[in-house]
Amino acid sequence: MEPIKILETKLSDLYKDNSCEHDLGHVLRVLKLAKTIGKKEGADLFILLPAVMLHDIALKKGTLPENNDKHAVLGSEMAKNILEECGFKEEKIDKICSTIKQHSLDNPTDEPRTIEGDCLFDADKLDSITSCGFARYLQEQALEKNTNPLEASKIFIDFLKDFEFRTQTGKEMGRDRSEAIKFCQKIIESGELC
Ligand SMILES: [Fe+2]
Ligand SMILES: [Fe+2]
Repeated sequence: MEPIKILETKLSDLYKDNSCEHDLGHVLRVLKLAKTIGKKEGADLFILLPAVMLHDIALKKGTLPENNDKHAVLGSEMAKNILEECGFKEEKIDKICSTIKQHSLDNPTDEPRTIEGDCLFDADKLDSITSCGFARYLQEQALEKNTNPLEASKIFIDFLKDFEFRTQTGKEMGRDRSEAIKFCQKIIESGELC
């Protein structure tokens, strides 16, 4: 079996203990977005797709905030062994791990940016502005941080204003970001009336 097929068979187990915002559903949605972006941007899908599959493996339920911030680096270290077990070649493993390291906003590394890293970054951020991505974010804030939807919406607006998409395709697909901000503002306005 091809290494990427072997990796696919491991995903549900790898993500079974993840927090709800970063569960297997998130990974599958990002995978779909990354395929679209990667094809348009000419990225190497044999690097990009395994990186998407493993990009949030370090975000387990109850992860300490400081480890949360480092999850891209921790995840790339965990990914190395998994990729070896699946039979990926060493040269590919290095590129896949580098791609994973580039996706975090919280703890940017000095890892040189690549087109695969930019595609993963954009696909990951695009999922957060889908309705399902936003609902999962609210659920996680309530469960893990005891934050109410009003406060969570305020934090989310800051997040949405805080980054730029990195690829042309991501910029085009991310035009709905202003709709997501408006939606959060509506939650805040209606909540503040009470
Ligand atoms: Fe992540
Ligand atoms: Fe993610």
